[in-house]
Amino acid sequence: MEFMELLQARQSVRRYRNEPVSEALVGRILEAVRTAPSAGNFQAYEIYVVEGKARMEALAEATFSHEWIAQAPMALVVCTNAARCEYDGKEHWALQDASIAATLAHLAVVELGLATCWVGAFLPAKVAEVVEAAEGHVPVAVLPVGYADEAPPRSERRKLEEFVHRCK
Ligand SMILES: Cc1cc2nc3c(=O)[nH]c(=O)nc-3n(C[C@H](O)[C@H](O)[C@H](O)COP(=O)(O)O)c2cc1C
Repeated sequence: MEFMELLQARQSVRRYRNEPVSEALVGRILEAVRTAPSAGNFQAYEIYVVEGKARMEALAEATFSHEWIAQAPMALVVCTNAARCEYDGKEHWALQDASIAATLAHLAVVELGLATCWVGAFLPAKVAEVVEAAEGHVPVAVLPVGYADEAPPRSERRKLEEFVHRCK
């Protein structure tokens, strides 16, 4: 898909078909993440690949009961790993790195014919427990991944003049 078309095609999807995502596709999503720019190229993010019914249900419960998450066959949990960053204010940089990683994962998912929704409503410690995250890996985004089972209405956006501020 052409990139601008991909941006238009991307939507948050919250219903998924009962169909697994192949390991080959998961690999391509992760390779897309790997291309992400990062502050100082320290790559201060980590990705946990979550699969299996019990783990997906635990993840749904850890995200303030976003029950639909458990419908998806798998999820990516994108975490910061601030210790990788050698700059002062490590968390500041790591949050940006992890956000870019999650964004690229989101776009790659759509490019590959899959669907996701960025979920940020959770207590990081709870999600970390579900994925058995290593010390210092702090979840910032949960991306359930699967084949869409809905075509949600397109969400509204502000007009350019509302958020673009030109400084001359
Ligand atoms: C940082 C962030 C956090 C979000 N958290 C949630 C969430 O916890 N639950 C949810 O259902 N959607 C969540 N979303 C998805 C937004 O609701 C969605 O992107 C927005 O409504 C625009 O819709 P669209 O993605 O279909 O264009 C989140 C999106 C972002 C970027």
